[in-house]
Amino acid sequence: MKKVCVITGGGSGMGFETARIMGKDHYVIICGRSVKKLEGAVSELKAEGIDAEAFPCDVSDYGSVQRLASHAKEIGRVAAVIHAAGMSPHMGDAKQIMEANALGTIHMNNAFYKVMEEGSCIIDVSSMSAYLTPKIIMPVGLYKLSTTDPGFFMKKIMKRVKLFPKKVQSGVSYGMSKHFVIWFAKQDAARFGKKGVRVLSVSPGNFETPMGDLEKDEAETYMKNCAIKRFGYPSEIASLFAYCVSEGAGYLTGTDILCDGGLVASGVSAFKR
Ligand SMILES: NC(=O)c1ccc[n+]([C@@H]2O[C@H](COP(=O)([O-])OP(=O)(O)OC[C@H]3O[C@@H](n4cnc5c(N)ncnc54)[C@H](OP(=O)(O)O)[C@@H]3O)[C@@H](O)[C@H]2O)c1
Repeated sequence: MKKVCVITGGGSGMGFETARIMGKDHYVIICGRSVKKLEGAVSELKAEGIDAEAFPCDVSDYGSVQRLASHAKEIGRVAAVIHAAGMSPHMGDAKQIMEANALGTIHMNNAFYKVMEEGSCIIDVSSMSAYLTPKIIMPVGLYKLSTTDPGFFMKKIMKRVKLFPKKVQSGVSYGMSKHFVIWFAKQDAARFGKKGVRVLSVSPGNFETPMGDLEKDEAETYMKNCAIKRFGYPSEIASLFAYCVSEGAGYLTGTDILCDGGLVASGVSAFKR
């Protein structure tokens, strides 16, 4: 039976680099909305001798994610899921960002919970923004609704986002959505644990990817006091993802790993750069 690794956002950036590593000993399914991007990525992977396929999927649509999960199970044993798909403040409005990042993570965990078996692992990709956005604005009291009624949760959290001035709403939505991802992955560890499956989140700092390029100016102002004064390379976060899903990390679950070159440790925040 094939050992399958599913990577959302696998057509570019961190997801694509992860496919290059995971593809050494897994059959890789890469997903995203843009078919052209996925097909280009699959051609590159195949040229490196990697057995990979493109599966178009919009993570904000549960039907689409369910089709992805059923397809992955048909191909083989779903050994690893790296949910790297996401949208940053430069990529959409507040609602689209919340739907891709928060609702997308609920959909991925719920659909893959049904098809993953003992020994496998799912990583939900968050962001250091979850650490930099002031805690006081995080609507933590609403998060639990996501486990019973994702639609109602989305309505309530978007109401909170809309309390902020229009020009900061997409940034607020990004910070909140990524803070939620960490919470969601943590609370899901017990549910997945009953099946012998691990779930954790990883929070990247500034990385050299198409998304990272869009945030470059802001990132550079943050980086002045950072321990490592450069962007992270996609291969560096891909290696971390690959380790986290490996057997060697078999005791790692229900936690978040911040990989930001020491940026958060430098004491910066949304108000202090
Ligand atoms: N780069 C950074 O500095 C940085 C920092 C912190 C966190 N992150 C997080 O790291 C993850 C990977 O980002 P990246 O840096 O590798 O950027 P990227 O190259 O832009 O990758 C994001 C991927 O997500 C896919 N995507 C977006 N919305 C989607 C949706 N609704 N359904 C399915 N796929 C969707 C995009 O493909 P399509 O457009 O074709 O759908 C794209 O391939 C993201 O979750 C991001 O928030 C990145």
